Amino acid sequence: MSIYLDNAATTPLDPEVFEAMKPFLLQDFGNPSSTHSHGRKVRAAIESSRKKVAELLNCTPGEIIFTSGGTEADNTLITSAVFTYGIKHVISSAIEHHAVLHTVENLEKAGIIQAHPVQLDTNGHVDPDHLRKLLNEYPGALVSLMHANNELGNLLDLKAVGEVCKQANAFFHSDTVQTIGHYRHNMKELHVCGMTAAAHKFHGPKGVGFMYIRKDRKINSFIHGGAQERNMRGGTENVYGIVGLVKALEIAYREMEEHEKYIGSLKSRMIEKLKAEIPNVSFHGDSANMQKSLYTVLNVSLPESDDNDMILFNLDLQGISASGGSACSSGATSGSHVLGTLYPGSKRGAVRFSFSKYNTPEEIDTVVEKLAELVGTKIPSV
Ligand SMILES: Cc1ncc(COP(=O)(O)O)c(C=O)c1O
Repeated sequence: MSIYLDNAATTPLDPEVFEAMKPFLLQDFGNPSSTHSHGRKVRAAIESSRKKVAELLNCTPGEIIFTSGGTEADNTLITSAVFTYGIKHVISSAIEHHAVLHTVENLEKAGIIQAHPVQLDTNGHVDPDHLRKLLNEYPGALVSLMHANNELGNLLDLKAVGEVCKQANAFFHSDTVQTIGHYRHNMKELHVCGMTAAAHKFHGPKGVGFMYIRKDRKINSFIHGGAQERNMRGGTENVYGIVGLVKALEIAYREMEEHEKYIGSLKSRMIEKLKAEIPNVSFHGDSANMQKSLYTVLNVSLPESDDNDMILFNLDLQGISASGGSACSSGATSGSHVLGTLYPGSKRGAVRFSFSKYNTPEEIDTVVEKLAELVGTKIPSV
């Protein structure tokens, strides 16, 4: 048996994406910076890819910069915005992805900025009054708050936070790695200065992503080298990755509502079955709230038990891949800074299941059954 329910860590490549990438791995190998025909052909593919991303996000091509993925995009946006605008204060939260958290920590350690964590309620929601208070104290700060939490599935109201940031002339960066390809973003309606994406979260290849940088909030390059990416990111472009990213994004947009409905139905099915099979089961953050959370993520809270540390290991032994928190802690229930922040000292178990268009209702039923057996609420069938 092999069931993959760790799609927030990464998703399988869509075969249609692979087909689109193939020519750029084989015959179209030129360096896009070369001015000869081999180079020009590949350059044209990058520029038409940029145009397509811009069309989908309703922004201009110049606002899209390709990167090696979400981590680089988050590092670049935060660090370069701080240096470009001489920003001294960064407002963020304790449950951001490490790509944000560690970037902010490093800038603070180097004495470049002062970090101000925004208060969260018990479910991990940003306290809007505290955010306003911090912005009153530190106008022009950089605000970095993720659109969807990768462990809990909690969603932030990007539009509302953007408005608050606009009023305070803050640089608003949002890590949208878990939502680009899963929701439609209309950049004309959002007061976001920078956003980030990773292709492998929406059935594209690993090692490629992009950042959106609003044209009136341009930042200097973070990776120095050649003049690639409109002088915003040195280094020869990952051409086949970029082509794959765009194909994956086009497919995601083409089938978005259908997938949201289907994947959401898998998630509700799992919630209902878990409630029926495991007494005292609950769910972390907003993840069981179908209206308020990312439809791809369900973070299950299991009753206290000495065996909770072994749950992921035992699921893995049965061929079921899930995670305890973020990908960096796949295979271990300990170490989630998100759960540690929101539920300090909790002895309950945590398993994050995350779904994709390739999962089936039968897989959900099997996983619930196996999980119930592992927590001892169901007798194993022979
Ligand atoms: C919210 C979030 N931000 C950033 C990243 C990092 O993206 P990448 O793996 O492309 O570096 C991830 C991936 O796990 C993520 O979930």
